[in-house]
Amino acid sequence: NKVIQVGLLGMGTVGTGVLKLLQKNGASIEQRVGAQIVIKKVLVRDLSKSRPLPVDAIMTTVVEDILDDPDIQIVVEVMGGEHPALEYMLKAMQNGKHVVTANKDIVAKYGRELFETAEKNQVDFQFEASVAGGIPIIRPLKQCLAANRIQEVMGIVNGTTNYMLTKMTRDKSDFASVLAEAQAKGYAEADPTADVGGWDAARKIAILASIAFNTRITLDDVYVEGITAISPQDIEYAGELGYCIKLLAIAKETPRGIDVRVHPAFLPLSHPLAPVQDVFNAIFVSGDAVGDTMFYGRGAGEMPTASAVSADIIDVARDICHNVASRILCTCFDEKPVCPVRY
Ligand code: NDP
Ligand code: HSE
Repeated sequence: NKVIQVGLLGMGTVGTGVLKLLQKNGASIEQRVGAQIVIKKVLVRDLSKSRPLPVDAIMTTVVEDILDDPDIQIVVEVMGGEHPALEYMLKAMQNGKHVVTANKDIVAKYGRELFETAEKNQVDFQFEASVAGGIPIIRPLKQCLAANRIQEVMGIVNGTTNYMLTKMTRDKSDFASVLAEAQAKGYAEADPTADVGGWDAARKIAILASIAFNTRITLDDVYVEGITAISPQDIEYAGELGYCIKLLAIAKETPRGIDVRVHPAFLPLSHPLAPVQDVFNAIFVSGDAVGDTMFYGRGAGEMPTASAVSADIIDVARDICHNVASRILCTCFDEKPVCPVRY
C-alpha cells in the first residue's frame, strides 16, 4: 500500500483538528486517494505543553526534521503569523515539497512570491482554509466559476466578529467578554486585533478579489474599518429600526476600478445575510453567466477549518498518487494593468 507522508507545522486549534480528522476518516480518505496519508512529524514551539492527542513520538521543535526529511512530500503550515511561517513554506517548496496553508496573512501579502516559488520548483500550493474556514470558496472561485466574468464578491468572512456581534445583539453581552469567548472557542487569531480591527476580513477579501478579478489586490487597496467602535446603543438603535449590524467584506467592479472594502453595515432584517449568526460566514458571488451564488457555513473553528485543510492535503495526495504534475492554477496575484480603487 502506498503511503504519503506529511509534515505539520503547528498543532494548535487547526493542526489538532487536522490530526483528528485524518485519524477519524483515515480509512475512507485512503480509499479516495489510493494511498494512506500519514502525519510523520509535527512542529511545535513548546514540547512540555499538554496535548489533546498522543503525539509525543512525532513532535519536534526542529523545523529541519520536517523540511529536510526526503520522505515528507507535503508540508502543512498551520502555525500562523508571517515569520518564520513564510520562510518555512518557501524552504519546503525549494526542497520539492508541496505546501498547504491556512494562513491568510501570508497568502494576502506574499501570495505572488509563493506561487512563483511553487511554479519554479514544480510543486503544488493550496490555501482553501485561508478564507472562511470550512466553506469551500477558493476552489469554487478558481475553478468552478472560472468561465464567468465576476462582478461582485460580498459577505461575512470573519467568524470571530460575527460571533461577537450575534451575542452582543441577542444576549446583550459586552464586547470584552464575547471576545474572550471567541478566543476560548479557538475562533480568534493569536492577536485578535486582526479580527476586531477588520484586518483579518481585509486579508480574506484581498485574496478573494485577487482570484475573482484575476489581478493582484493588496491590503493597501482595501478600505478597512472593524467593529471596535460599535456600541451597545448602535446595536439597540439598529434593532429598533429593523436592522442588524454585520461586518461586511465587499469587492466589486466599478467604472473606477475594483472597489474593495471591509466595514460594519446596517442590514435590513429581511436581507439574506441577516440570519447568518454566530461563527457562520456567508459569501455571495455574482458572475455574468452563473448569476448569483451563495456559499455558507462555519467560518472558523477546529473541525470546520480542518475540513478545508485536509481537503487540500487530499487533493495534493491524489495528484502525487496519479503522477499528475503540480497544478498551479492561479494566474492571479500578478501585477496587472487593472486599477483597484485605492483608499
Ligand atoms: P494556534 O495559535 O492555535 O496554533 C499555532 C500552533 O503553531 C501551535 O501549536 C504553536 O506551538 C505552533 N507555532 C507557532 N509559532 C511557532 C514557531 N515559531 N515554531 C514552532 N511552532 C510554532 O493557531 P490556529 O490553529 O488557530 O491557527 C493556525 C493558522 O490557521 C493561522 O494562520 C490562522 O490564521 C489560520 N486559521 C485559523 C482558523 C481558526 O479557526 N483558528 C480558521 C482558519 C484559518 P505550541 O502549541 O507549542 O504553542
Ligand atoms: N480568526 C478567523 C475568524 C479565523 O474568526 O474568522 C478563520 O479565518
